[in-house]
Amino acid sequence: MLREKTVVLGITGSIAAYKAAELASYLTQAGAKVETVMTEAAQRFISPLTLQSLNHRSVACDMWTPPENFDITHVSLAQIADVVLIAPATANIIAKLAHGLADDLLSSVVLATQAPVIVAPAMNSIMYLNQATQENLALLKKRGYTIVEPEVGRLACNEQGQGRLAALDTIVSAIDRVTGCVEDMAGLKVVVTAGGTREAFDPVRFIGNRSSGKMGYALAESAMQRGAEVTLITTTELKALSGVQVRYVENAEQMLEEVKKATEDAAVLVMAAAVADYRPKKVAQSKIKKTKDTLLLELERTPDILSEIKGKLLRIGFAAETDDLVHNAKRKLSGKKLDLIVANDVSAQGSGFGADSNKVILITRDGKEIELPLMSKYEVSNKIWDWVINIK
Ligand code: PMT
Repeated sequence: MLREKTVVLGITGSIAAYKAAELASYLTQAGAKVETVMTEAAQRFISPLTLQSLNHRSVACDMWTPPENFDITHVSLAQIADVVLIAPATANIIAKLAHGLADDLLSSVVLATQAPVIVAPAMNSIMYLNQATQENLALLKKRGYTIVEPEVGRLACNEQGQGRLAALDTIVSAIDRVTGCVEDMAGLKVVVTAGGTREAFDPVRFIGNRSSGKMGYALAESAMQRGAEVTLITTTELKALSGVQVRYVENAEQMLEEVKKATEDAAVLVMAAAVADYRPKKVAQSKIKKTKDTLLLELERTPDILSEIKGKLLRIGFAAETDDLVHNAKRKLSGKKLDLIVANDVSAQGSGFGADSNKVILITRDGKEIELPLMSKYEVSNKIWDWVINIK
C-alpha cells in the first residue's frame, strides 16, 4: 500500500532513535521512498550511516550542506513528502513545532510542508505528561497533526509510565491512514458518547461524576482517522475534532434524545459516557437555600440509553467497575443485550476516569474475553474498532 509514497522520516534525540532504523527498514521494504532527516541530537544516538545503509539514500542532517542539484533542501523535502513522520519525537521538537520555530532542518521541513504530519513522541513519562508538552501536543492536534501516542511501560530511565515509542505497527497504521492507504472504516456510520452526565436539582447544582470524556473523544478521533462517519455526543468539550459531528448535551435525557436521532441510520453505537443511573425527581426553579441541617433529595431512575436503542446496529457498552470486574461486566452485557462490553477496571493505576490510559477487557456476547494491557485510550479505541471491523 505504501508503494510510491514518499515518507520524510524525522528522527530526533531520544534513546528510541534506534527503533527508527527498524521503522525505516520496514517502510523501505513496504515500497515507500524514505527520506531521512536527523537532528544533531539524533546523531548522538544513532549514526546517519545506519539509515543510509537501510534506505540506500543519503541522510539529510543540516541546512548548510550545499545540495547536489541546487534544490533548497528543506523546501524540496517538504514538497516531495506524501507524509512527514517524526519518530521518535522529543519534547523539544514538539515544542518547536507548536510554536512555529524553524531553527534546524527538520523543523524547517515541517514548517514548509503541506503534507500531513505524524508525530510519535517518546520520552520520560513526566516530561510527556508535563502540562507544557500536553498543551503543545493539543495545539498540534488542533492544527490537524496526527499524534501517535506513546505506550505505557518500562522506560529507559527505569521508570514505569507512558512515554515509550508506539509499536511499529501502530505507527505504520497511522501512516496508512493519513496517506489514505487504509480507511478500513470507510462507509461505516458510528455514534460515540463521551463524558459524565449532569443531573440538575436546582439552577446552579447538579449530581455528576468524574468522567472527563477522554475515552469517548479517543474513540471518535480514531474512528474518524480510519474513515468512519462519526457523531460524538458529549457532555464535555475537550478539543476540536475536524471531520466529526459533535453534539453537546448535559443530562441523560438529552443524551438519549441525541443518541436516538444519531443512531437512526448508524451501524455502531459505543457508549463510553458515564451516564447517571438516578436523577433528582424535582428540579427547584431557584437556588435551594441553606435553611436546615439536612437536605433530602429524592432520586428517580434515568432512562437506560443502551437498552432503549434497538435495531440492527452493533451496541457496545462500557462497564466502569472497582471490583468483580468480569462478573459485573458480564451482568451488564446480558442485561442490556449488548454485542460487546468493555470491562473497565477503574481502580487500576493509570486507568479509568480522567486518565490518558486505560486497562480493559473486551467481553463478547458469546463470553470470549480479550484482556488488554494498560495502554493509551487511543490504542484501546483502535482495539475496539479492530474488533468491530472483524465482525462486520
Ligand atoms: O471519560 P474518561 O475520564 O475518559 O473516563 C472513561 C470512563 C471510565 C467513563 C469509561 O471508560 C467508562 O467506563 N464508561 C462507562 C461508565 C459507566 O457509567 O458505566 P456503567 O457501568 O454505569 O454503565 C454501563 C453502560 O451503560 C455504559 O456504557 C453506560 O454508558 C451505559 N448506560 C448507563 C446508564 C444509563 N442510564 N444508560 C446507559 O446507556
